[in-house]
Amino acid sequence: MIKINENYLKLQAGYLFPEISRRVKVFQDANPNADIIKLGIGDVTLPLPPAVIEAFHHAVDEMADAKTFHGYGPDQGYPFLIEAIIANDFAARNVDIAPSEVFVSDGAKCDTGNIQEIFGIDNVIAVTDPVYPVYVDTNVMAGRTGPAENNGRYGKIIYLPCTPQNNFVPELPQQPVDIIYLCYPNNPTGAVATKEALTQWVQYARANKAIILFDAAYEAFITDPDIPHSIFEIPGAKEVAIEFRSYSKTAGFTGVRCAYTVVPQELKAYTTSGEPIAVNKIWSRRHSTKFNGVSYPVQVAAAATYTEKGRPQVRQLIDYYMENARVIRTQMEEFGYTVYGGTNAPYIWIETPDGVDSWHFFDQLLQEANVVTTPGSGFGSAGQGFIRISAFNSIENVKAAMQRINKI
Ligand code: MLT
Repeated sequence: MIKINENYLKLQAGYLFPEISRRVKVFQDANPNADIIKLGIGDVTLPLPPAVIEAFHHAVDEMADAKTFHGYGPDQGYPFLIEAIIANDFAARNVDIAPSEVFVSDGAKCDTGNIQEIFGIDNVIAVTDPVYPVYVDTNVMAGRTGPAENNGRYGKIIYLPCTPQNNFVPELPQQPVDIIYLCYPNNPTGAVATKEALTQWVQYARANKAIILFDAAYEAFITDPDIPHSIFEIPGAKEVAIEFRSYSKTAGFTGVRCAYTVVPQELKAYTTSGEPIAVNKIWSRRHSTKFNGVSYPVQVAAAATYTEKGRPQVRQLIDYYMENARVIRTQMEEFGYTVYGGTNAPYIWIETPDGVDSWHFFDQLLQEANVVTTPGSGFGSAGQGFIRISAFNSIENVKAAMQRINKI
């Protein structure tokens, strides 16, 4: 008899964003004339920058000619992209990254979800609360968490509350943990972590032989010059951290798919007998066994984001969404809401009026304003009493959504 992986039965309801889509569909079917504005999932709406399109087209043409055709690419990604990544994302910030430390992939969601596979099942996981659901769900699937409790939390996970009181940057855990997921600029709260805060975490990880899984998918949205873009800007971080980056939100690649993960050579995890093992080697083994790389045209397109023509065009995209974020933040404040985020991140985290339940306020905004947001409780129990508004849409839609919200 074929057995199912029963860990999947421990997962809470559906994945957050399909559940939102389901509710929106029910509403749209019942109200076919409703003009719904989507500020829920962080999905970009502007087209790819012209320099990216040009490079993409050219690479597709190369695939049409036997002389320039590309089959399987190098396991970790084409050197032209890896070199551009190192020069622009790291060397420019005085961070020393070697080509062997960069792994090009099809998304930070996949990488942050898959990385847990290479670590032992009995590691203690710490996540922030609220948190991007992928970190938790993939550990549930792997069997690292135990069943869900009544409050939706999993017994074996250590939750680190992120609240207005700690500026949405968690305090160090009271008990030893082995794997810590941090995402800054933060999804969903829009908060950032200072150099001092990240230094504390790096020191904690070094002292406890733990690993920090640092999701920096939103680093391009940082406007404050003092906020680190990479955890590797913190001395000693290469011994204890893995960093995830993505072109999705930065350069409009949500439908194109390209990202990368940096696994330093110095980073070690241990066997039960205490023997240090290079994590880079293990991730490389996993990557080359389970993944055949990002297509050549997509890697060429990603490399075009770093060219002289591409860079300012990418910056324009980011500035456009950050202007949306500014409009959302200032308008919601004017309407009397308590508002966080939106200055170094494309997400605005808003307290629900009178502390009403997140899903309740989500439904009210959908039904009365026809605006889709994301309920904070979908990111964890500390997200209860908040909603997240995404800045990814046109400025016209953002302004229209604000007017409608003001009316209710
Ligand atoms: C979000 O809205 O949180 C993101 O778009 C989800 C993702 O990047 O997978």
